Formats: sequence, C-alpha cells, structure tokens
Amino acid sequence: MKKLTYGMVGGGPGAFIGDAHRRSIAVDGCAELAAGCFSRTPEKSAQTGAELGLDPERCYASYEEMAKAEAAREDGIDFVVIVTPNVSHHPIAKAFLEAGIHVSCDKPLCLTNEEAEELVQLAKDKDLLFLVTYTYMGHVTAKQAREYIKAGKLGKVRAVMAEYPQGWLAFEGENGGKQGEWRTDPKQSGGVNCLGDLGTHIENAVATMTGLKIRRLLAKLDVVVPGRVLDDNDYVMVEFDNGATGMFWSSQIAIGHDNSLRVRIYGTEGSIEWFQEDCEKITIIEKDGTMIERHRGNGGIEPDAARYGHLPSGHPEGWFEAMGNLYHSFAECLQAKKAGTFTPDMVDFPTVEDGAEGVKFVHCCLESTKNGNIWVEM
Ligand SMILES: NC(=O)c1ccc[n+]([C@@H]2O[C@H](COP(=O)([O-])OP(=O)(O)OC[C@H]3O[C@@H](n4cnc5c(N)ncnc54)[C@H](O)[C@@H]3O)[C@@H](O)[C@H]2O)c1
Repeated sequence: MKKLTYGMVGGGPGAFIGDAHRRSIAVDGCAELAAGCFSRTPEKSAQTGAELGLDPERCYASYEEMAKAEAAREDGIDFVVIVTPNVSHHPIAKAFLEAGIHVSCDKPLCLTNEEAEELVQLAKDKDLLFLVTYTYMGHVTAKQAREYIKAGKLGKVRAVMAEYPQGWLAFEGENGGKQGEWRTDPKQSGGVNCLGDLGTHIENAVATMTGLKIRRLLAKLDVVVPGRVLDDNDYVMVEFDNGATGMFWSSQIAIGHDNSLRVRIYGTEGSIEWFQEDCEKITIIEKDGTMIERHRGNGGIEPDAARYGHLPSGHPEGWFEAMGNLYHSFAECLQAKKAGTFTPDMVDFPTVEDGAEGVKFVHCCLESTKNGNIWVEM
C-alpha cells in the first residue's frame, strides 16, 4: 500500500505541538510530510519547510493557497494536520474540508458551537474523516480502561473524579511565553483558557473511558492570578446520562504539577485509576479491595487495547506513541477508504463529533459560571 502523505498548518519556528505531531506520525510510520504552511510569516514557513527537507514549491504562504494547490495536485496530500492556536482551527479546517481533504485538528476543535456544527456537517457532506487529537486517549492503558468498562467488568459506573492540574501559569506577570500568550488572550483562545486547554482533555477522557454522556453540569471557572482575563482554575460538577456523578478539576496554578491528568472511575463491581504521567500501567481495584496493576505489554490487557503496543513491557512507551496510535487508526481508515473497504466501526480515534462535544462542554461551563454557578443542561 502506498504510504499516505500529509501537510501541516502551524508548527513553525518555536512552536510546541506541531513538531510533536511530526515525531508521533514518524513513530507510527503511517504517513510522510509533503507540504506545509508552518507560520503566518511566509519567510518563517519557508525556513521550517527547508529544515524539514520539503519541496519549496509545497511550502505555502497561506493555508488558503495550500488547500487550493494541494487539492489540485495529482499527488496532493491525503490529509492536513492543523496545529495553530484555537482561534484559527475552524477557518483552516473548513478550507481543507471544502477542498476535499481529510483533516486532523488539535483540540479544542474550535471556539463556538456554531463553528463545531458546521465542521461536523461539512465532514459528513464531503464524506471526509476528521481526527481531533485528544492525545492521551491513544495510550494503551487509556484504551484498556475503555475496553474494561465496555465489557461490563466495572459494573455500572457510579462516580468519577478527574483532574488535570498544571502549575506553569501560577505567577503574576508571567504568561508562559509564546504558548501562554495566546492561551491567556481572549481574542486567540476564545472565552476560556484553562478549561479549553485542560478541561476539554478531562471531558474527552471521561467520555471515552466510560462511554457516558454528561446530562448537566455546574461550573465555577475562576481567574485566580491578578491581571489575567481568562480562567486559570476550574471546578465542574457533572451528572451523567446513567445517573452517575462526577467532579472535574483543571488548573494552571497548581504549583508542582506538570501534566497530571488523572481519572478515577468507581463502578458497582470495582474501581479504576489511571494517571497519564505513569501511563504504562493502570490500577484496577476489585470488589473485595484487591488491587491489580496491569502493565502495557503484559497479560491482562484487553486485545483491542493491547494491539496498540509497540515494545515489550519494560521498554517505556509514552506520549509520542499515544499520539501515533491515534494517527495509526486514522491512517488505517484513510487507506481503507482508498481501497473501498472502509466501515465506520473501524474508527478508533476521537472524531469531529467528539471535538464538538468538547466545545459544547466549554459553553455550558461558561453559561453556568456567568449565571452564578447554576446547573446547565448539556
Ligand atoms: N493534544 C495535546 O495534548 C495538545 C498539547 C498542546 C497544544 N495543543 C493544541 O495545539 C494547538 C497549538 O498549540 P501550541 O502550543 O503548539 O501553539 P504554539 O503557539 O506553540 O504554535 C502555534 C503555531 O501555529 C502557527 N500559526 C498560527 N496561525 C497560523 C496560520 N494562520 N497559518 C499557519 N501557521 C499559523 C504559529 O506561527 C506557530 O508556529 C492549540 O490548539 C493547542 O490547544 C494540544
């Protein structure tokens, strides 16, 4: 099968996640970079393209030009990877979908529910695949939680405690450099900072692992550090469609925490604890209190999770592999589309619909907070 090719928008000099996507795709080996518009400044875009060894003809000055030119080429890219600040996700994704090109976009999907609905509809109308890179759900152990719960082994889920604390924006007068600047700026980040950056990861992780939908929520989004406009510490109380309840905490002022996404799920038959910074294992607590640590690569991992492992146990896999695993399924589906063998049950990655749920979650939290922390239906 011919290797897929992709283009990238964003990921220029000094950017964070673009380079991580390139490395993750390379770890999986499912596609090769063939085009890009890496920055809004054409010289910087060309510089990154040259560093990556791209044909200068396929380094573009704008994403609009790239979408048009790549769609017109016989050897045009199979998909685009969008790794720009949140405000531009919607127009860029729209341009590539309209050009008939499959999309991978980083989270949060976009800023408004209307934008999200438009992208969902466009992808459907054009019959295009759309990956939203909630990276952590690519971990074998995160998939293990999902498969274990899906198989009914946890019984009925009754309670969820999930948190994603970071400490990098804890201080007045410090905005976290290039990455923090746009996240804390309402014009580039939308109505939220911390909740869009971290809270959406929690929402997606819990939804993916439990299969539950939030029925209603009550949020308290706080601006803690003086001088900041957008939230940097958030609490969200949730009720799920099966009657279970949950508590989500996301923070950028939790000194001492890096990327401490932790999910604890309590069912009628036992509990699960998963921690992304220790992602090679998952702890399962049985009904009688017996604690079992399941390690990626060893026995006891459900087959639909285990198949994403690359290395023998004890050779640690991490964030790049998790992101690569999302691309693995995305690429398998794209290849199947080309071969005419694609069926929707092959999709094992977060989709545009999942991304739209994240946007809806953000807006319900904003509505709750603005109205004095009231319950809001999702
Ligand atoms: N999945 C994850 O775990 C994860 C982690 C970090 C960031 N993200 C998401 O990734 C996105 C980017 O975050 P980041 O931290 O890499 O930001 P960044 O500021 O480091 O990089 C953004 C890049 O986009 C470029 N850019 C901006 N507008 C552009 C345009 N119109 N055309 C071409 N290039 C453009 C900038 O020049 C820069 O190179 C955000 O949406 C963020 O939420 C996701």
